[in-house]
Amino acid sequence: MQPLHTTAAVRVRRAEISDLDDLVALEDRTFDSDRMSRDQYRRHLDSDSALVLVASANHRNFLGTAVLFFRKGSGVVRLYSIASQPEARGKGVGTALIDASELAGRQRRCRALRLEVRTDNVVAIKLYEHLGYRRIGSYAHYYQDGADAWRYEKALA
Ligand SMILES: CC(C)(COP(=O)(O)OP(=O)(O)OC[C@H]1O[C@@H](n2cnc3c(N)ncnc32)[C@H](O)[C@@H]1OP(=O)(O)O)[C@@H](O)C(=O)NCCC(=O)NCCS
Repeated sequence: MQPLHTTAAVRVRRAEISDLDDLVALEDRTFDSDRMSRDQYRRHLDSDSALVLVASANHRNFLGTAVLFFRKGSGVVRLYSIASQPEARGKGVGTALIDASELAGRQRRCRALRLEVRTDNVVAIKLYEHLGYRRIGSYAHYYQDGADAWRYEKALA
């Protein structure tokens, strides 16, 4: 399959069923609540309304993932989840995954990408703002553990 995004080191492609173990392991390592199950990942891998992306680099096959949801007629793609392997952070994996997400949104003619983030997730917020995302909403008790969220959006024109 053609890579969706390539930088000097990081390559992003659509996830395949053989990525399932890595996807679930990273999910479990990364998130304490609102985790996606193996069955949910399996369904998203097979769905037209979801796109699961995987980042890799040279000898490292699985550096991170992003999960996108599309809704018929909505024109807005949602970045539901993004994570990079803890030992690979700060090296551009997250940026490559977001670039590829924006490209995938444009390819499906979406006008904007939206995401929610915990209000205390300083690293992710810094990254989103650095990449041009604008805060458009605030939601109290948004997550399963009661944490608040901010919603961000970027136009994909
Ligand atoms: C948010 C996350 C996906 C970012 O991934 P990443 O691979 O570190 O992304 P990048 O390397 O492209 O950018 C990270 C930012 O942190 C900075 N950074 C530098 N050194 C770093 C380090 N050792 N660790 C983390 N970030 C570092 C980078 O410079 C960059 O900031 P900038 O955009 O201002 O330059 C990652 O931190 C993660 O998986 N967090 C846990 C899951 C999460 O919170 N997901 C988001 C909500 S769903």
